[in-house]
Amino acid sequence: MGGFDLWEWLNLAIRWLHLTAGIAWIGASFHFIGLDLRLKKPRKGDASGEDWAVHGGGFYHSQKYMVAPAEMPETLHWSKWEAYWTWISGFSLLVLVYYVGAKSFLIDPEKVALSPAAGIAIGLASLASGWVIYDLLCRSSLRSSNLVLGICWFLCLLFAAYALNSVFTARGAYLHVGAIIGTVMVGNVFFVIIPNQKKVVADLVAGRTPDPALGAAAKQRSLHNNYMTLPVLFIMISHHYPMTYGAERPWLVLALLGLTGVAVRHVFNLRHRAQSTTHAIAVAALMALVSVTYVSMEKGGGVAAQAVPFAEVQPLIARHCAGCHSAKPTHPGFPVAPLGLKLDSYAQAKAAAPRIKAMAVDSEIMPLGNDTAMTKEERAKLGAWIASGTPQ
Ligand code: HEC
Repeated sequence: MGGFDLWEWLNLAIRWLHLTAGIAWIGASFHFIGLDLRLKKPRKGDASGEDWAVHGGGFYHSQKYMVAPAEMPETLHWSKWEAYWTWISGFSLLVLVYYVGAKSFLIDPEKVALSPAAGIAIGLASLASGWVIYDLLCRSSLRSSNLVLGICWFLCLLFAAYALNSVFTARGAYLHVGAIIGTVMVGNVFFVIIPNQKKVVADLVAGRTPDPALGAAAKQRSLHNNYMTLPVLFIMISHHYPMTYGAERPWLVLALLGLTGVAVRHVFNLRHRAQSTTHAIAVAALMALVSVTYVSMEKGGGVAAQAVPFAEVQPLIARHCAGCHSAKPTHPGFPVAPLGLKLDSYAQAKAAAPRIKAMAVDSEIMPLGNDTAMTKEERAKLGAWIASGTPQ
């Protein structure tokens, strides 16, 4: 059984589940939002809105009843398990990658030398307090304006991104902000949307008039979820893009790209309602431009003056990288080279140069955990070798 790696298989299984549940949830949510915004007054019948669609070889006629149909149907389809499974799998993945692997992925001893237990406690506390604060905001008098509420919540998240980045690795901070948003979104489904709908259904079945505040609160939470979707999706894929979390102010890049996502979502909402999108597209494009410009400006450092030969860089790679990134890793935690990236030879290092620059020069993500205490000067030397065209 020498080749069996339980953690890697678990990681794959949970990530696969997370992606699948997430697609099912967000897909259903996008579908219903689009449907809701497209509804037209029906030509006949007592429904409050209808929509005709063609899909998969048939025609669909959806009708919406507000507050409810005159008679409750025998079976009602509820959409909730997609959301719950997205959270369960996402939380499991957080534990598996960032908490089991806290030393490598969560804790950055150069920022704060936390013990894994302390790091995990901070992470969990951030998720719980995120929900409590958001829920309080939604129950306060701010709830009468979604714009004001949205701005307050955005500032809370910005603060979280900044604060978490000062105690965790940049990726750990990003992921926790994503997990806070995801937790809030699922919390909305679990604590507000579904319970309120259940109360409404129970009232209707019993012949009572449901409290309209229940529906209003559920609708408001759904609207918030709608706008939080694209930012959270960005965070979940951000790990592939070290230029984002590897920036000098990762929290600012996160804020700018998050706002870009909100603006893009707004464009689609207007489109579904057949309203003009010109202004919203301009805002979204501007946000994207600001994000890209900021990241590019931050990176625009001086170009290396002197060519650095590989002979000067090879010992650095051997000491700081090859413990893991090698055909025969010596690091006990990594029996095979992570992501298949091996840095044993000149050709391998040259081929990986752009990725090395992103992970170990422009950012300090590698060496993971920095057990070997790679210095800024060493990073600069590695950068100079790459900037001078990776000479042999
Ligand atoms: C303690 C083990 C370890 C050390 C030491 C280490 N890495 Fe990594 N590296 C990893 C792991 C694990 C991953 C994959 C997961 C991740 O992105 O964190 C990775 C990923 C990478 C990637 C991303 C590859 C891709 O295709 O996206 C690059 C580039 C990289 N490392 C470069 C380096 C460089 C350069 C050094 C030395 C300065 C280094 N690493 C040192 C463990 C290590």
